[in-house]
Amino acid sequence: MSSPVNSPAVITCKAAVAWAPGEPLVLEEVAVEPPKPMEIRIKVVCTSICRSDVTQWESKAQPDLFPRIFGHEASGIVESVGEGVTEFEVGDYVLTVFIGECGTCKHCVSGKSNMCQKLGLERKGLMHTDQKTRFSIKGKPVYHYCAVSSFSEYTVVHSNCAVKISSSASMDRICLLSCGVSAGLGAAWKVADISKGSTVVIFGLGTVGLSVAQGAKIRGASKIIGVDTNPEKYEKGKAFGITDFINPDECSEPIQQIVKKMTDGGADYSFECVGDTGIVSTALQSCCDGWGLTVTLGVPKVKPEVSAHYAVLLSGRTLKGSLFGGWRPKSDLPLLVDKYMNKEIEVDELVTHDMPFSRINEALNLMRERKCLRCVIHMSEQ
Ligand SMILES: NC(=O)c1ccc[n+]([C@@H]2O[C@H](COP(=O)([O-])OP(=O)(O)OC[C@H]3O[C@@H](n4cnc5c(N)ncnc54)[C@H](O)[C@@H]3O)[C@@H](O)[C@H]2O)c1
Ligand SMILES: [Zn+2]
Ligand SMILES: [Zn+2]
Repeated sequence: MSSPVNSPAVITCKAAVAWAPGEPLVLEEVAVEPPKPMEIRIKVVCTSICRSDVTQWESKAQPDLFPRIFGHEASGIVESVGEGVTEFEVGDYVLTVFIGECGTCKHCVSGKSNMCQKLGLERKGLMHTDQKTRFSIKGKPVYHYCAVSSFSEYTVVHSNCAVKISSSASMDRICLLSCGVSAGLGAAWKVADISKGSTVVIFGLGTVGLSVAQGAKIRGASKIIGVDTNPEKYEKGKAFGITDFINPDECSEPIQQIVKKMTDGGADYSFECVGDTGIVSTALQSCCDGWGLTVTLGVPKVKPEVSAHYAVLLSGRTLKGSLFGGWRPKSDLPLLVDKYMNKEIEVDELVTHDMPFSRINEALNLMRERKCLRCVIHMSEQ
């Protein structure tokens, strides 16, 4: 085993700490431990805010996991590396990822899944390896989020939960590939594998839904129907490939009936990108018999159960879900980064706000009030 290349010390830095569900974050001095074996400590450069951060921050389901540092869509620079890390060096540019890829477990070797058994979605607010935190305030542990916690000037992640990127990438835009944009593109390309000429309906035109639309457009879908309660989303949606728009608040007929009329009996593919299991049912009813496929991406705030009449399944429709668009982060994310660098995919237009770290609560409120797509937080600006 290789020995550590340096002996990093504890860093004291600023982090935006959530002390209770939904309460404004407080910029606190936190102690960030050095990386343990196979971990890296990262200086976060930019973090964007994903709907999942807001959902978890507001959720009262896990009150014991506070104080907590949220944030999982980030770019950064490796500050120090733990024992055994050979893949990264100090100064490397990275994207964090909220599900890792160990490369050796049943799922990682299957080639069919990104549900790594060792570094899968972390729900206990701890590091995967030793079930402890790397953050503390006056000796009191501060919990992580998704084993990333990017609302901090420095954070520690497992080296298999980060992906090296080119130092010429725009750190303040490419952070969107760390979650939302990749999740949407992957749902369209990898999970649904949308074919040319097909019809698509997308519920929810946030960053995730617009990225599904972009993926569908690039695949040559003939009709891409966007469904959103915010009428402003049609204009933005057009640039990402939306050809038709439905505002449920302006409809007297059930949405699935409207979609069926527009698509000769139902869309080939439907996507749920809101985070509402009632909409999953509507999406399933909106796709066609025989081969209709519904992909659900949203993370629901309430009512986790999905209901469907068995007949929609007997008639040949499929319901699938996906995290991070089914991409295996280490194996697949570099491909998306290349596509961004080659201007083959649009990311910049999804950023509606840039803000310094000191204004992170404003950014969270914009997301809470549905007044933005992605707000990018620039960590070194105060
Ligand atoms: N599966 C994954 O890997 C993954 C990754 C990122 C985000 N997510 C989840 O995906 C969902 C979307 O994320 P986002 O960041 O794009 O969120 P967002 O809040 O920016 O977008 C949601 C959109 O849904 C619209 N909407 C709200 N209620 C609606 C309704 N009843 N009918 C139609 N439209 C409605 C909103 O106006 C908004 O445009 C969230 O639940 C998020 O937690 C999942
Ligand atoms: Zn996310
Ligand atoms: Zn694995």
